Amino acid sequence: MYNETVMDHFQNPRNTGEITDADGVGKVGSAECGDIMIMYIKVKDNRLVDVKYKTFGCAAAIATGSIASEMLMGRTLEEAEKLTSEEIADALFGLPEKKLHCSLLAPDAIKAAIADYRSRSTSESFSV
Ligand code: FES
Repeated sequence: MYNETVMDHFQNPRNTGEITDADGVGKVGSAECGDIMIMYIKVKDNRLVDVKYKTFGCAAAIATGSIASEMLMGRTLEEAEKLTSEEIADALFGLPEKKLHCSLLAPDAIKAAIADYRSRSTSESFSV
């Protein structure tokens, strides 16, 4: 069902876990299956310097979180927000049709983590 690249990221997922002092955290759920992904980011000079994720999802969710974390590392926040599920599926050399919805979790999670980072930065600048 899955190709070799997907299996590799599923069996040896990169950047899994939590960043305890994250600058932003995004938690999203899939409307289709109810699975969850949480993404943690560290930001320096408007760039992602660390990205980690956890998912309570299927093999495709694990693989897409893994490759997305690699693709996101070093991107500016604006570039990171542009990551699409199609780019993720392409980087994995394709996903089975019925698993395409799983690749929506990572783009949604990174957008939520960046929104969280921005809301923290805004509230910090007003908390004098
Ligand atoms: Fe839920 Fe894949 S079936 S994320």
